Amino acid sequence: MKHKKIIELLNEMTIEEKIGQMIQITGDIFLSDDTKSMLTGPLKDLHLSKEKIYHVGSVLNIVGAERVKKVQDTYLSNSRLKIPLLFMDDIINGYKIAFPIPIAQGCSWNTQAIKEMTEISSMESSIAGANVNFSPMVDLSRDARWGRVMESIGGEDPLLGEIYAKTMVKAYQGKKLSEIGKIASCVKHIAGYGAVEAGRDYNTVDMSEREFRQYYLPAYKSAIEAGAEMIMTSFNILNGIPSTVNKWLIQEVIRKELGFKGIIISDYNAIEETIAHGYSENEREAARNAINAGVDIDMMSSIYANHLKDLCLENQEIENKVNKSVLRILTLKNKLGLFENPYGNANEIKEKTYVMNATNLEKAKKLTQETFVLLKNNNHVLPLQKNRKIALIGPYIDNIGITGSWSMFSDRTKNDTILDMFKEKIGIQVLYAKGCEILRQEEINKILSADGLPMVHVENESQKEKEMIISAIQVAKKADVILLALGEHYRQSGEACSRSNIALPENQIELINELYKLSKPMILILFNGRPIELSSIEKKLDAILEVWFPGTTGAKAITEMLLGEENPSGKLTMSFPQNVGQCPVYYNHYNTGRPHHNNLRYVSRYQDIPTESFYPFGYGLSYCNFKYTELYLNKHIMNGNETITVTVKIENQSDYAGYEVVQLYIQDLYGSVVRPVKELKAFKKEYFRPHEIKYIHFDIDMHMLKFWNNKLEFIAENGEFKLFVGGDSEKVLEEKFELTY
Ligand code: NOJ
Repeated sequence: MKHKKIIELLNEMTIEEKIGQMIQITGDIFLSDDTKSMLTGPLKDLHLSKEKIYHVGSVLNIVGAERVKKVQDTYLSNSRLKIPLLFMDDIINGYKIAFPIPIAQGCSWNTQAIKEMTEISSMESSIAGANVNFSPMVDLSRDARWGRVMESIGGEDPLLGEIYAKTMVKAYQGKKLSEIGKIASCVKHIAGYGAVEAGRDYNTVDMSEREFRQYYLPAYKSAIEAGAEMIMTSFNILNGIPSTVNKWLIQEVIRKELGFKGIIISDYNAIEETIAHGYSENEREAARNAINAGVDIDMMSSIYANHLKDLCLENQEIENKVNKSVLRILTLKNKLGLFENPYGNANEIKEKTYVMNATNLEKAKKLTQETFVLLKNNNHVLPLQKNRKIALIGPYIDNIGITGSWSMFSDRTKNDTILDMFKEKIGIQVLYAKGCEILRQEEINKILSADGLPMVHVENESQKEKEMIISAIQVAKKADVILLALGEHYRQSGEACSRSNIALPENQIELINELYKLSKPMILILFNGRPIELSSIEKKLDAILEVWFPGTTGAKAITEMLLGEENPSGKLTMSFPQNVGQCPVYYNHYNTGRPHHNNLRYVSRYQDIPTESFYPFGYGLSYCNFKYTELYLNKHIMNGNETITVTVKIENQSDYAGYEVVQLYIQDLYGSVVRPVKELKAFKKEYFRPHEIKYIHFDIDMHMLKFWNNKLEFIAENGEFKLFVGGDSEKVLEEKFELTY
């Protein structure tokens, strides 16, 4: 449709119809045969009349070509102007094929892999009728207590966040939104959501503007520059004002400074929640604050529906704002081609042939393998030798529930289990015992009761626990090696899943302790959505393979990796803490005046744990052994806009082929504001043949040395810099150079 026509349409709309476009509700209402009961039921709380429902502009989390078409048909046949609905969804780590959770994807350090996963999930969801995806989530995440770190694609690093944000937005949107396989990307949650105090979800965020610009803003900025069509505001307050009604954030930073032209949507009920925050006095004020700040769509509250009209009638300026918002919404619908074809790319036939197809499943498995991080491998216990007797023990051995808490649309029927895969690969030698449940029932009840689900009582649970351990010991005794599959419950990470204890569940630790007494090599496959506290068990384990929640093809990917058909290459994007008391712990921190170099008393440290993280950012082993030597700079003075070329020699001292992520960090030694001890500035994922030696080059320039100073200028300052190159953020070679200009 021509832009002129959109304007004509806008002019034809009543104020109610315009406001309707700015409201998002769940789409179920249009699927029910009994709309009357839906109106007195689920939508009663939203105080929406039947009339208002046929004005709404978008619906949430309805997918499946048939369902989407049905909803669109019902809606259009009851709507005066027949403006198609937008279908927006949370396809967080894939649609029917569940890919590894976002934090895992980030650990691949491979933009091509992330691009491919995003393209497949975009294609699957587009033909299932999705128009907009609430992804990527690029909130910088430093605190493992926060359950949503599992959604954070860049983890604790701003550069990774920036690079991945761009990759994902482009992969979702392609060149033209109306093409098959393309959907609009809604980047979230702006802003600073990852910095919630004490890692408690929805909690306060307070930080200097300099800190905000330096670490948190870059990933959002990068998504906007890549053309993201939508932005979701965050639940938290940012420096005293809820993000959703934060004029400075939305108008000054997002609209003016970053030039964002797309749609801004609130998070779920967040406009109404500005009242609970103690910012808006009542619903009407909440509506006024949100529209004045510049929120175009109210997700799942009745604030715009019930108050925006009166505000428009009393103030022309507000009506002008409504017009602008509606124009943005109609423009996106037009870009998606919905005026010509309201079903978008929804197509039941293609859905049947394309979704979960064998080629994509095979691809998914390969991509999944890039996300695994080998945390420990003493005496090369991995890869497993097939001729050794292996005891498979743990609640994740025979379990298809490995897709993570946001995979609500995934098709689990295709998920294999590790047990199936081992049987397939090594046949009868497989010894198996469950060993324990993922969590004790009491713990599960605590989680599920918050979801409104009934409590379950297990008779004689502790007796059953003992019996399970005894059977596991009996099985383990017959084996040469114990392979444990343990980890968090999938509902222990994700939204509203903050935790003050991030160790493995007690019953699992007990199982480890008992099996340890057998003095057999023990390997842990770890399923989790956040960095886990491992210090109490790590010494008892010979190897640890971090697999996060690996998704549909996880079991196959894991089995091949353990048997040495593939080689791990993932690297952590979040530091693992020594214990929960160390959170937040992140590699790119500042020095103190009393850094902890040695065992002095009055230095910045904990009395009871080391200052360093347990596993650092960027860390991850391989079956290869990579040796870094000969770090060389072609010059040591950078004059203004010159480039310095850095070279490092890396030798694969093993008989395996594999990938290594070569990382380059820089420290600005003295600045007008203090600078972090290290910041990732570049990386390369390189393939090595057995015993291959490679010289890897990086170019560094002045742009990489820039930072936000106290006057909020983005500048580089003359002086000395340290440069580090290595396979993680701690074990590095270092050199110095100077910037003069
Ligand atoms: C709340 C979450 O914070 C957000 O990430 C999600 O996209 C929306 N709900 C919609 O489900």
